Amino acid sequence: MYNDNPTLDQIDKVIDEKKQGEAYYNAELSGTSAKQFYIESYGCAMNFSDSEIVASILSKAGFSPTRNILDASLILINTCSIREKAEDNVRQRLHIFNKHKKNKPELLVGVLGCMAERLKKKFLEEEKIVDLVVGPDAYRDLPNLIQTAEEGEKSINVLLSREETYADISPLRLGSNGVSAFISIMRGCDNMCSFCVVPFTRGRERSRNPFTIVAEAQDLYDKGYKEVTLLGQNVDSFKWENPETGEVVNFAQLLERVAMVHPKLRIRFSTSHPKDITDEVLYTIKKYDNLCNYIHLPVQSGNSRVLELMNRTYDSDWYKERVSAIYQIIPDCAISSDIITGFCSETEEEHQDTLEMIKWANYSMSYMFYYSERPGTLAARKYTDDIPLPTKKRRLAEVIEVQSEVSRLHNLKDIGKTYEVLIEGDSKKSDQDFKGRNSQNKMIIFEKQAGYKPGDYVFVKVTDVTSATLKGHIVNG
Ligand code: SAH
Ligand code: SF4
Ligand code: F3S
Repeated sequence: MYNDNPTLDQIDKVIDEKKQGEAYYNAELSGTSAKQFYIESYGCAMNFSDSEIVASILSKAGFSPTRNILDASLILINTCSIREKAEDNVRQRLHIFNKHKKNKPELLVGVLGCMAERLKKKFLEEEKIVDLVVGPDAYRDLPNLIQTAEEGEKSINVLLSREETYADISPLRLGSNGVSAFISIMRGCDNMCSFCVVPFTRGRERSRNPFTIVAEAQDLYDKGYKEVTLLGQNVDSFKWENPETGEVVNFAQLLERVAMVHPKLRIRFSTSHPKDITDEVLYTIKKYDNLCNYIHLPVQSGNSRVLELMNRTYDSDWYKERVSAIYQIIPDCAISSDIITGFCSETEEEHQDTLEMIKWANYSMSYMFYYSERPGTLAARKYTDDIPLPTKKRRLAEVIEVQSEVSRLHNLKDIGKTYEVLIEGDSKKSDQDFKGRNSQNKMIIFEKQAGYKPGDYVFVKVTDVTSATLKGHIVNG
């Protein structure tokens, strides 16, 4: 995903690429009903998963999805507030939607997700083209809100809930490859990382009834899916208490229940928080082959003083202990990370600690960002955003360079190994090749062979690597 020798322009490009929205579409679901909606999603997997819940609610209300924006009577944009650039992207898209609206005045434009929640009715004032503003916990209200908007009144619902998990809604798998799907297992976040807007846009943490999670996984398997990713901002703090029996289900127990749906259903999860990931989770992963050997464990910074300012509630020693436990209990586990450069008052030496951590933890890959101050967060209120942008970007370039080399060496060690790979579809570059992932979440490109199709497991021997992907060929038997 990242270039070997990034320039500052390339860094911006990397960041932009990550923010590209995706229009959702599923040919089988597209209809010719009078009301068609077009939905674009930005931000994290949670948002993409939410768009599938929205699509399900709308289809019950008589709408059908379309990929062609010109056919739509309703355009929805599911937004992200995590960094300033994420919000800029959304505003640019709204200006483009405005052009459509000029040609079709009855067209409705709705803003969903985190930016809707952050800006609330300010959105309606700032962006005249917006007819609906709907926060992440208010999607059940969409049919009513749309009706109000159709009657010519602007409509808004940004109430956050302590209970809503959309547990009973079966998501419409719009952008699906038919092989892997997201399952949302919890919502909100109770951590207060000082840089982060999510607790404000997503509200309090709540876990979904595990019976509905297992049922959703079973249903997906029955429909031919082979991989599910369990989603939450902090999956390790999953905790559900059965109101009838008082029985408590934690994340390790949930993983076990989902793993038992079928040995050929692969299970991934994201995101793990270093303060909460337990040995019980690690031993559960070790016990079941279909629980993938891959953990996304964002460090954010390699320096304890900065981690404290970030209010991450662990220090670098704690983090290292958790990484050591992972490698000791699951030796072939891959670990990836999120990193922020140039957080308030970060010194050059502290930045060096982050570079050292990347090497020490031997991440297979990382998502890397420079700090972007978000209004209302603890950091915005308490600290000065005092690292100049060119310094933030230069540190980011250094982080990307080090990670890129660590990834390349990580991948080099795979040459000659054979992995079980789940075929996801054609490779981007050639329809003669398949792409798929191994348990460690590494993308492998290999030549097609008759008899294999997306959703099949194959054994692939790795013959060549870059810092981003592995290449190989199918080995029989
Ligand atoms: N819940 C996840 C992270 C969700 S946000 C966790 O705790 O790890 C995804 C990533 O965006 C974060 O891990 C962080 O690296 C980055 N991020 C969040 N707020 C940011 C900000 N204000 N500026 C830059 N990057 C930020
Ligand atoms: Fe944000 Fe921290 Fe919650 Fe992650 S754990 S969503 S970084 S507040
Ligand atoms: Fe963005 Fe909201 Fe996700 S701010 S990263 S879409 S939870």
